[in-house]
Amino acid sequence: MIGIIAGWSAPPAEMEIAETREMETPFGAPSDHCAIGRLGGKEVVFLRRHGTEGIPPHRINHRANVYALKKLTVTEVIGINSVGSLSENVPPGHIVIPHDYCSPWAIITFYEHHVVHITPALDAALREKLIQAAARANVAHETEGVYIQTTGPRLETKAEIALLKNFGLVVGMTMAHEATLCQEVGLAYASICSVDNYCHGIIEAPLTEKEIARKAQENAATIRRILLRVLEE
Ligand code: HPA
Repeated sequence: MIGIIAGWSAPPAEMEIAETREMETPFGAPSDHCAIGRLGGKEVVFLRRHGTEGIPPHRINHRANVYALKKLTVTEVIGINSVGSLSENVPPGHIVIPHDYCSPWAIITFYEHHVVHITPALDAALREKLIQAAARANVAHETEGVYIQTTGPRLETKAEIALLKNFGLVVGMTMAHEATLCQEVGLAYASICSVDNYCHGIIEAPLTEKEIARKAQENAATIRRILLRVLEE
């Protein structure tokens, strides 16, 4: 079973939803119900990390989200994550399949009470499937890039971006937590990052929340195309 953790988007119209299940976990309720069904011929569970009401990034119950997918016997998780670009060469509209992430100031875990040290890494086999699917869907994509996670909810200052652009390609507020938690419970995780804006100060034009949302909406169709290609494989 494949899990999809998406941002604001509802399940693609092509998904045949057999059941929407309200889950409970030892960590509380997930962000939203889990839509269980078939997409592109595969059994999938679709979960919206921001729920239907719009849970802000710093308040997402990532542990409940990942635990719920594990409980539903998911083995591979595809994250769909909105990001800003740290490079003028990676414009909004592109897709990035990150190969690593950086979030040293905010580390999440399931293991509060006993010692477990995972060695964090995105799943290589799942990444490869995403890259192949992006290529087949004919979408401009980067096959590598470091995702830097900030806490949100505010965007970054120009000074922060000037610092971060030395270390990464994209910035977002969610993926590192999901990747870490999935790995801790043995779920393969990789992400399709939707570049929805240039990060603050990368270009002259002002950065607004409205413009990010507009671009994210526009990119949703591209993401759907890639997802369908991955699942049809
Ligand atoms: N910064 C952080 N998170 C984001 C951004 C950004 O510029 N765009 C989309 N998610």
